[in-house]
Amino acid sequence: MKTFLKILKWIGILLLIAVLGIFISGYVLYNKKYTAPYPDIRASTDSAVIAHGKHLVYYSAHCVDCHFKPGDSLGAVNGEEVGLAGGAFPFVFPGGKFYSANISSDPEFGIGNIPDSALARAFRYGVKPDGSVLAPFMEMQNLSDEDLTAIISFLRTLPPVKYKVPDNELNLLGKAIMAFFIRPEGPKGTPPKEMKPDTTVAYGEYLVTVVSNCKGCHTYRNPNTGAYEGELLAGGPFEPVHGDPTKMIVTPNLTPDPETGHIYHWDYNQFRTRFTQGVLVKETVMPWGSFKHLDSIEVKAIWKYLHTVPPVHKVCSPPVQDIKDWDKVAKGES
Ligand code: HEC
Ligand code: HEC
Repeated sequence: MKTFLKILKWIGILLLIAVLGIFISGYVLYNKKYTAPYPDIRASTDSAVIAHGKHLVYYSAHCVDCHFKPGDSLGAVNGEEVGLAGGAFPFVFPGGKFYSANISSDPEFGIGNIPDSALARAFRYGVKPDGSVLAPFMEMQNLSDEDLTAIISFLRTLPPVKYKVPDNELNLLGKAIMAFFIRPEGPKGTPPKEMKPDTTVAYGEYLVTVVSNCKGCHTYRNPNTGAYEGELLAGGPFEPVHGDPTKMIVTPNLTPDPETGHIYHWDYNQFRTRFTQGVLVKETVMPWGSFKHLDSIEVKAIWKYLHTVPPVHKVCSPPVQDIKDWDKVAKGES
């Protein structure tokens, strides 16, 4: 018995050392610097390019949804062209808080002094201008060269806003996660030079998985690391409702499953109309305000693509549920 207790004690001490070691190295490594190539992308002053960039930033790629500044939330929700001085709200996860960046042209607080190629590298390779890893909120690695150029060109036209976004606040767990689980992510394959907007399934896939990233919210992800764990577009618990941590916001299953696919019984008109209606569920996080401005080519392409993904049998709705059902919902049993 005595030796047993002794062994137990030593195992306990070793475990403690291991856990401490992980946290301490996390603390040291979380701000690690990475290298990645600088894409050959240069901002353009062509008005058509800038106009396309504006459509992406405010509408289809909904940058505004995360990059408005505190106080402008109503305008952003309504799809208005509010400023992009960042810090909208803290993105809270068990490891701490992230704040979006000021992406106005201010040289001190915004991106005015960051070269085009460094911005392009951040989008495409997930490496910030200072070499640290960009937290994976923006999955735009596979944007076409043309769309990336358009976005940066438009950002250059934004008036400077002198607003300092709060620094990210990471606790030890957050630092360990950043050090060990979050790596800069590059593109899958070679990103296209251009993607011509049309109503093809291919363009729909580009919108759903890259530009508008419907995939990012409508696929179940690990709440700590953001890693994809659910089946593509089959929905599931997304995050606690802002201001009410007892409730969970749940995204619907967008796959064409006859029984559980949320839009399986919708016709195209219903789908098109839904995108003109804005927010209907007040707790939602879907950027309906931006998506109100999607044009009919975009909505058609998205509709077509959603009908080609593998159907997944998974019950997700209703959109707001008690958090204690989290596990059941995650497993698709609720
Ligand atoms: C889902 C929310 C979200 C969306 C949508 C989003 N961003 Fe971000 N963005 C963030 C967060 C959060 C950070 C800070 C991440 C960090 O600190 O690692 C950030 C950082 C950035 C940076 C900072 C890079 C640097 O200098 O450190 C730029 C530039 C940027 N975003 C531009 C954009 C553009 C342009 C779009 C749309 C095409 C966009 N973002 C869409 C949340 C978002
Ligand atoms: C930031 C997360 C987020 C993104 C991005 C997002 N959604 Fe959603 N979506 C949600 C949430 C949460 C709900 C449930 C609440 C609601 O209906 O607004 C939802 C609901 C829906 C619904 C059901 C609406 C209804 O009234 O029944 C459809 C359809 C939908 N999303 C399609 C899409 C498509 C298509 C895209 C990409 C163009 C997309 N979503 C992008 C989070 C998101």
